[in-house]
Amino acid sequence: MIYVNEPSLGERELELVSECVRTGWISSAGKFINQFEEGWATYCERKYGVAVCNGSVALQVAVAGLDLQPGDEVIIPTFTIISCATAVTYNGAVPVLVDADPDTWCMDVDQVKGKITPRTRAIMPVHLYGHPVDMDLLLELADRHGLAIIEDAAEAHGALYYSAREGDSPGWRRCGGFGALSCFSFYANKLVTTGEGGMILTDDPQLAEKARSLRNLCFQPERRFFHEELGFNFRMTNLQAALGVAQLERMDEIVARKRWLGEQYTLKLQGIPGIRLPVEKSWARSVFWMYGLVLAEETEMDATQMALRLKGKGIETRPFFLGMHEQPAFHKAGLFLNEHYPVAERLARQGLYLPSGLALSETQIDLVCSAVQETLQ
Ligand SMILES: Cc1ncc(COP(=O)(O)O)c(C=O)c1O
Repeated sequence: MIYVNEPSLGERELELVSECVRTGWISSAGKFINQFEEGWATYCERKYGVAVCNGSVALQVAVAGLDLQPGDEVIIPTFTIISCATAVTYNGAVPVLVDADPDTWCMDVDQVKGKITPRTRAIMPVHLYGHPVDMDLLLELADRHGLAIIEDAAEAHGALYYSAREGDSPGWRRCGGFGALSCFSFYANKLVTTGEGGMILTDDPQLAEKARSLRNLCFQPERRFFHEELGFNFRMTNLQAALGVAQLERMDEIVARKRWLGEQYTLKLQGIPGIRLPVEKSWARSVFWMYGLVLAEETEMDATQMALRLKGKGIETRPFFLGMHEQPAFHKAGLFLNEHYPVAERLARQGLYLPSGLALSETQIDLVCSAVQETLQ
């Protein structure tokens, strides 16, 4: 079986994790936490990093940082992981959905303006499958309407966006460096992995302080067991951070490998009728986190059937996201009833992603591409 993901872990990871075991610094105190926070913030051109135990809670803490009131709204893509929506609902606010862009599969930024109401407080762009969201319009809208941007860059470590906003000097900027807060996951299938893990980045010292406090049960430095606010234990361990520090040392190599993988797939799959391949817009440098395919309407197969056929040939795949507006859990809560987003609905039924882990070899890519071709014949 060729799996959708196999992480690439080496001697350096072993060395740093072993150091934690040898020295006993295995919990959430220890030098690797700070090193990872500072290293990741610097890499993403941010001032502060707050490491947490996964990407879902990174989003939850980021939204909590905005002090939303019940009924406040946050605009998110419908086509994303459920963590984006629950980060909003767990904070008592309301997620408002926009459809996906048919090319990039990220949120359709042209639909955002029409969703802004007097209750809107934030926009959450999610860079999907390694491709950046077209950020300029969102940054513009956020400025004009006084909204916060919470960027979800879980799937886009190291991706770049060319910002050409009036008033700013144009240039390439790293995903995770936009808006009030940005969030990351370091789950095992991410470019940088700590097994499980996440981080919040910001340039605002108060937001950073608030996130630090929330992740650590809102303990107070001067009176530890006296609480003025309610927090969580969302801490990352030094063991996890050690993995992150080791991986960050070879970040350029990791990004280059992912881009190579994306290029290889595109080269070998282009021209095969019946499938749409990922795009890379002129203003984007994708990191091809996971290489997705979307079956054309005229193909007499949906993604579930294709996944089964590929599995029969020893190729593991994963379906694309199912939109938030199609989730029974939200319908039960009275959310998104009778809402329809045709692009997201089509992507959910026709999209899947291929093995894309860092350990994937060229021979394996060839095997996957032959299997895809045979499946479509
Ligand atoms: C876009 C996006 N945001 C957030 C998350 C949540 O991260 P985690 O699995 O670490 O909780 C994921 C999941 O992998 C994701 O793909």
